[in-house]
Amino acid sequence: MELNLEILKPQERASLQLRVLYEQAGYRKYHMGRFEEYGLYQENRSFLSSEQVITFTDLDGRLLALKPDVTLSIAKNVQPAPGKCERCYYVENVYRPSLESHTFREISQMGLECIGAVDAGAMVQVVSLAIDSLAITGPEYVLELSHMGFVTGLLDAVGAPEPSRKRLMACLRDKNSHELQKIAAAAGLSRQGIDALCRLTGLSGPWETVLSAADELALNAPMGDALGELRDICAALEAEGKTKNLKLDLSLVNDIDYYNGLVMQGYLAGLPRAVLKGGRYDPLIEQFTPGAKAVGFALYLDELERLSAPTPENGDGGRVMLNVALPKGRLGDKVYDLLSGVGYGCPENYADTRKLVVENREAGIRYFLVKPSDVAIYVEHGAADIGIVGKDILAESEADVYELLDTGLGKCRMCVAGPKDFRDDLSRSLRVATKFVSIAKAYYAAQGRDIDIIKLNGSIELAPLLGLSDVIVDIVETGTTLKENDLKVLTEFMPISARFIANKAGYQFKHREIGELLKKLAEVTESDPNL
Ligand code: PRP
Repeated sequence: MELNLEILKPQERASLQLRVLYEQAGYRKYHMGRFEEYGLYQENRSFLSSEQVITFTDLDGRLLALKPDVTLSIAKNVQPAPGKCERCYYVENVYRPSLESHTFREISQMGLECIGAVDAGAMVQVVSLAIDSLAITGPEYVLELSHMGFVTGLLDAVGAPEPSRKRLMACLRDKNSHELQKIAAAAGLSRQGIDALCRLTGLSGPWETVLSAADELALNAPMGDALGELRDICAALEAEGKTKNLKLDLSLVNDIDYYNGLVMQGYLAGLPRAVLKGGRYDPLIEQFTPGAKAVGFALYLDELERLSAPTPENGDGGRVMLNVALPKGRLGDKVYDLLSGVGYGCPENYADTRKLVVENREAGIRYFLVKPSDVAIYVEHGAADIGIVGKDILAESEADVYELLDTGLGKCRMCVAGPKDFRDDLSRSLRVATKFVSIAKAYYAAQGRDIDIIKLNGSIELAPLLGLSDVIVDIVETGTTLKENDLKVLTEFMPISARFIANKAGYQFKHREIGELLKKLAEVTESDPNL
């Protein structure tokens, strides 16, 4: 009987082909059980993407966990002899909380780790295997490389104070140069320092172009070393003919305190999120094998499921269409007017119909009319490539998207408001009514003030009037609603305006189209004195 691989799902086929690839490259299979000692995760919390782990007491009284991660167990068990390198790969399910569904999810992961005396050759091999892995899983892909040494070197060189670094890194990760500037200025950085950080958000593209632009920014030895390592890896891959789908993006920083050198992220066309993540993680391995180095990556096989789903029709005779999530209402109308003024209008006026999709194929644009509070969801999930969304909704959703431009439209501010004679009674929890639960929690957590949240969906100002809450956290535009209800602003803490956002994968594959639209939008918003 012949084995027909066509009957397999994409993730099943990929997993078999990847096993062959890794075995041929000299990696051996590492198997781990479903459970691991909870203590391992407790002691290494900073290396996990979430601290939440499913635990249970085993029959012998030991506290075990359903494994949230494979790398930690490999780091603990694979202890290479001095001067030797251990290479292993795994296909395992891990259990992690999902922010969206508020439940734990079982995630199917395949990955490899190279541990021990990791030299330049081993680094090239791992990146080369990451490229081959993506090529096996989908025909159109991009692998992005960056180096934590370059980013942290730059933060050192510009004198970024420790407390501001996390927020600066988050802005870099989201290519959010408008907020990066504000945070850097508030942290006391010089004009040159701020400009250097902002330049990082644009250092993305073919490796040779990016490296020559980055050379000017290399202000200290760690930055120079990072560029040298990236150059050596890319040159070796070039010699193997593997740089066609390789990109450097020096603003790529990973979300966990895990990586200390090279970092990589891989995208497949048609999938909304990165399917491959990895990099160099010496600090973790050093805890188990002093002096050892480590590099590896994981592929999220579950994500591949979507590859078998029918892809939406995406063009006309090869025309790439940009899908825009446009918020219904006043803000959306304003944004649409701006875009139509620079050539992105549609022949059909959406206001005259009940249609939720309008498009202009010649201009390569398609608008989805969505509820303002849903814009970030459409974009994060890749149903739309780009969108325009209020910063209030974006911050509340914590969506993992690029925030590319502050349009300056729809300006207002997030405030704490309350009765005119309000006095905070510190002897008890403060009752806070709001639509913006995450924003309110984060604000009061930073103050160290204990609160009880009352989640409402509208007419928030009623809550203190009826004794339902002490204060509210809400947006204030003209201040009329507060005034007419005998309330006042107690603290203003977040300026709000409409932001232009993009899906992180869509940005890779529709880079030119998004860039053109963004440039035209930026020109009109910058030249309008009212914005
Ligand atoms: C928003 C906000 C305030 C009001 C502030 O309400 O929740 O109630 O606008 O605007 P102002 O400062 O100009 O008076 P929205 O109109 O969205 O209604 P809802 O929150 O009651 O749904």
